[in-house]
Amino acid sequence: MKYPARFGAAMLATIFALAAAGSPANAQKRAERPWINTGLGPDARADLVIEAMTLNEKIQLIHGTGIPCDEPVTPENANSNRGVGYIPGIPRLGIPAINMADSAYGVRPSAVNGRYSTALPANLATAASWDLHAAYEYGALIGRELRAQGYNMSLGGGVNIAREPRNGRTFEYLGEDPILAGKMVASLIQGTRSADVITDIKHFAFNDQESGRMAVDAHIDERSARESDLLAFEIGVTEGEPDAVMCSYNRVNGNYACENDFLLNQVLKKDWKFQGFVVSDWNATHSTEKASKAGLDMEQPYDVFYGDRYKKAVESGKIPVAELDAHVHRVLRSLFDSGVIDHPHERVEIDPFSDLEIARKIEESSIVLLKNDEQILPLAPERWKSIAVIGAHSDVGMISGGGSAQVDPPGGNAIMPPGQRHTKWMKPVWFPTSPLRAIAARAPGAEVKYDAGTDPAAAAALAKSSDVAIVFAYKWSTETVDHYSLALSEDQNKLIAAVAAANPHTIVVLETGNAVSMPWVKAPAAIVEAWYAGSDGANALANVLFGAINPSGKLPITFPISDEDLPRKTVKQPPVESQDTPAFWNLPKSERGKGLPPFDENYSEGVKVGYKWFDAENRPVLFPFGYGLSYTTFGYSDLKVSGGDMVTVSFTLTNTGQRLGAEIAEVYAALPAAANEPPKRLVGWSKVTLAPGEKKTVTVEVDRKFLSIFDVGKNAWSLLPGDYTLLVGGSSRDFPLKTKINLK
Ligand code: BGC
Repeated sequence: MKYPARFGAAMLATIFALAAAGSPANAQKRAERPWINTGLGPDARADLVIEAMTLNEKIQLIHGTGIPCDEPVTPENANSNRGVGYIPGIPRLGIPAINMADSAYGVRPSAVNGRYSTALPANLATAASWDLHAAYEYGALIGRELRAQGYNMSLGGGVNIAREPRNGRTFEYLGEDPILAGKMVASLIQGTRSADVITDIKHFAFNDQESGRMAVDAHIDERSARESDLLAFEIGVTEGEPDAVMCSYNRVNGNYACENDFLLNQVLKKDWKFQGFVVSDWNATHSTEKASKAGLDMEQPYDVFYGDRYKKAVESGKIPVAELDAHVHRVLRSLFDSGVIDHPHERVEIDPFSDLEIARKIEESSIVLLKNDEQILPLAPERWKSIAVIGAHSDVGMISGGGSAQVDPPGGNAIMPPGQRHTKWMKPVWFPTSPLRAIAARAPGAEVKYDAGTDPAAAAALAKSSDVAIVFAYKWSTETVDHYSLALSEDQNKLIAAVAAANPHTIVVLETGNAVSMPWVKAPAAIVEAWYAGSDGANALANVLFGAINPSGKLPITFPISDEDLPRKTVKQPPVESQDTPAFWNLPKSERGKGLPPFDENYSEGVKVGYKWFDAENRPVLFPFGYGLSYTTFGYSDLKVSGGDMVTVSFTLTNTGQRLGAEIAEVYAALPAAANEPPKRLVGWSKVTLAPGEKKTVTVEVDRKFLSIFDVGKNAWSLLPGDYTLLVGGSSRDFPLKTKINLK
């Protein structure tokens, strides 16, 4: 049938929907299942389902059925998609199963399913782009690939701030500043939501170290808590609107996070008005009645506390039915709100090439140029006739972050042990993206030679006989373990020093998931932080090295000079009895559920995380938060600030150099002395692309909350009247513009 052109697709869809809605079959379906009415809101629809549910069906929705991707098939999870978590559906009521997949920087258990995923650059890398649109694209890609692989719930959205930069999961998070991290995770979540999957934010809260994560009791005062780690979550929850919040393994001020009334009921559900459900981290549930009352809605991955025990507690009246219904309501409302019920997923083929391009572009905007003496970069191919590429398996691949974030890239591990077909827990994975090949492709007239870097003398000899040497260094990170220190391995420090001593035209490329120290920093001509670079990292890197792309990333985390400069000289280790040793994991599940004896970690630095600590202590750093070079230069002028509902900061930004480039213009505020805050805090930024000579007026609207302190007595953010200094520039330690405004 042909319709007149003026009938757009939307109008046709409405006509068909109305016709279908009016059919007798649909009328009957609606009478039986009134919640299929999309005209109702998610809360009303969830309540209608609850009215029709049995007790067993309700209990089924609040606990997991094991870890299908790692464990033998059971009758409960036989129909699962073999992800890391599964809740069977209730076909009688038209409620679909929930299939969960880890998805920090891509969809994780793909190879087990015979499907691959695009590995994006590490989350920390994306934070270095300071680009909210890039974060949205990042999340949207994950959402699409989840759906394509048959999953309808993401376990991503990590936003614990880098209070402890040696944390083994720093690469999965978004840096040290709560406003940058919160805004970026909110965009990422919105992107994932666009694919109609249940989205998640994690690990709530203060899961700031991996050492003894199952036992550690993080102590922090409320004001510092609200203004630091919790602020990142507050922005993520209120602006990103995830459907799920994952509570963490650790304790906070005496109570496990997953049975912590303050965190779950008071802060998350009451103050932030979070409507979705709280899911425990895997094996982070420790009680039935206490957890339920404190606001935990769902136990994962088993049913130790939220299965039979929960049912008995309801039957005996220990847990009121209304409390169970409140948890079930949150799960159901999320199924409606996310679109999982109204837009059921179908497996589809993903386009690996367009997704690779997205991964590459995000990496291109995330690479940070840390040093560039005499503008050695970008490399002009005609100048360099011989190039030495050295170290870190740069002939075949680039390193990625491990643990539950690990993605199996297309092509598998570039350094795969014989007989192994897919990635393994706690084993480094090298994405098959070859810097050597990417560099050689951009320098067709040069002789490009590789040295593995295992013998510094041999590597130095090759460097000496080459025009330019590019030496790669890496630091692998993974969930469950922290770094002993900020240092690279001794071998790599020696290698870099030897190569740089042999050739003044040495460029160091770092593949790290956190800040590293650089005892050799003065020696090389250039230093590039490429992070964990993702599936097409080598092309992104080579585009930056040869100038097809002008670098624009800025550090989302301070690079300290040494561990000695941090609030804690080392990461506090648990006593033996608080360690989750293999013996602990061999205990029956119910025994494990009892948990481990606490050990205290005092976050006495409070709000002074990252640059706030270094500013307050007046300490020099290696590279400051917010820092990053470009192949062009930028000028700042004409600062104007005005108050109002939002504080408006505007200034002129000029590209004063010879190349097109993007600048991240950062706005910081120093609060009145009475606020008793660290010297300054980031309050906004804008990433602006300018042609050579071009200038633009840049306006940054600053939310008054970001200029406030958290007043614990009033349980609210409060702006203290007084003089605020606004500082504008290209890093947290370089402010060409500065002015004061009196705010009330
Ligand atoms: C991690 C979570 C992850 C879960 C499921 C836990 O060990 O902390 O981030 O989502 O496992 O794999």
